[in-house]
Amino acid sequence: MIIVIIGSQWGDEGKGKVVDLLADRFDVVARYQGGHNAGHSVYVGDKAFVLRLLPSGIIHKNSVCVLGNGMVIDPKAFFGEVDEMIEKGVSITPDRLKVSSRAHLIMPYHQALDHTSEERLGNEKIGTTLRGIGPAYEDKAGRRGIRVADALSPEVLKNRIERNLAEANKVIAVFGREPLRFDEIFEEMTELAERLRPFVCETSHFFSEAKKDNKKILLEGAQATLLDVDHGTYPFVTSSNPTAGGASVGAGIPPHHITGVLGIVRTYATRVGEGPFPSEMLNEEDGVANLIRERGNEFGSVTKRPRRCGWFDAVATRYAAELNGFDSVALTKIDVLDALDEIKVCIGYEIDGERVDTFPAVSQDLRQIRPIYETLEGWKSDTLGITKVGDLPAKAKEYVDFLSRSIGVEIGLISTGPERDQTIILKDSVMESWFA
Ligand code: IMP
Repeated sequence: MIIVIIGSQWGDEGKGKVVDLLADRFDVVARYQGGHNAGHSVYVGDKAFVLRLLPSGIIHKNSVCVLGNGMVIDPKAFFGEVDEMIEKGVSITPDRLKVSSRAHLIMPYHQALDHTSEERLGNEKIGTTLRGIGPAYEDKAGRRGIRVADALSPEVLKNRIERNLAEANKVIAVFGREPLRFDEIFEEMTELAERLRPFVCETSHFFSEAKKDNKKILLEGAQATLLDVDHGTYPFVTSSNPTAGGASVGAGIPPHHITGVLGIVRTYATRVGEGPFPSEMLNEEDGVANLIRERGNEFGSVTKRPRRCGWFDAVATRYAAELNGFDSVALTKIDVLDALDEIKVCIGYEIDGERVDTFPAVSQDLRQIRPIYETLEGWKSDTLGITKVGDLPAKAKEYVDFLSRSIGVEIGLISTGPERDQTIILKDSVMESWFA
């Protein structure tokens, strides 16, 4: 069985908790795109883990974790996280952590270029995480990137860094920044590559063998559908493909081997960084946005930026459901809405006086959109920690059913708090079969 988990909005939907719950039942947990721009928070007992680069399965001692070929890996960040996990008592060995030889490396000059690129855009900036993700993918598409396998050969590494750094330093100089030094980068990267060597693996072959052995594989998307470079709110997107098709390419797994796709949907929407957000709570709804931000702890787990908050956007989420082919949805953070008198759901858009029910491609349109809302009554009681659907307040259940109808997919799991056991799994759902 191979299941892909994907965020359906602009990220931070609570994927970390769901992956963590499923990881117990899966033999392999892998990431297939992005890098340390992700931030998956997982709470186990009194320990909080924030995973940026490593798959959330790493905290389960029986899972093997894989960083797929579609990722961009900053080796310094990689070992920073590995060491942090070891310190927290997590065992990390090459037997249970594998890095694709085809993944691309994020180099120090990529981070510098991420800064200059944002500086150049000024008011039109993307609001990136400044981790060097975009510039590393640019090098990959420009066929000058440095892959993990290249870094294992000092000669190849030296040539590639020399060539790429010379180009990068020209741009860096234009922005009046200090040029980066070849010797420092080469020395640091050579050391890190040696430390990486035992973890390097032909990961698509590994997956193929795992499938033959009937192992269960979980593919963990980072970022989310609306940040996808092809399908998201371009250009305010990340530089990879978090959507379901990206899982096949970025892990090196044939598409028809994928058994199912699980969407993670939060009961409201948030966005970090710039870009269109049709159902954003603005001005007069500042009070509600603040309440949600505080109750939902909506501050970036990587950058600590306050997240922009908005109402559930059924148009955008239905788009995500169609695009990824969600078989089931996990609905997260229902308890955050407990205090609200009324809850709005964006059920359509109006652009230039015309009603639109599909998600438009031009980001300019999205900024001019007038959201059309349906308002539902709040339940005004505590849902934190509920584990049976029958124990949900009637109005909370109505809200869940309304969302499910509006996106056209079953809701198979409802998360009622950050802990593992604060979860409802719905009987006879597709989701239930994945937890079997
Ligand atoms: P980048 O991925 O650093 O290039 O940033 C591009 C856009 O994606 C920015 O708007 C970021 O805030 C956003 N982004 C990147 N990673 C995440 C994430 O894990 N959660 C939410 N937003 C993200």
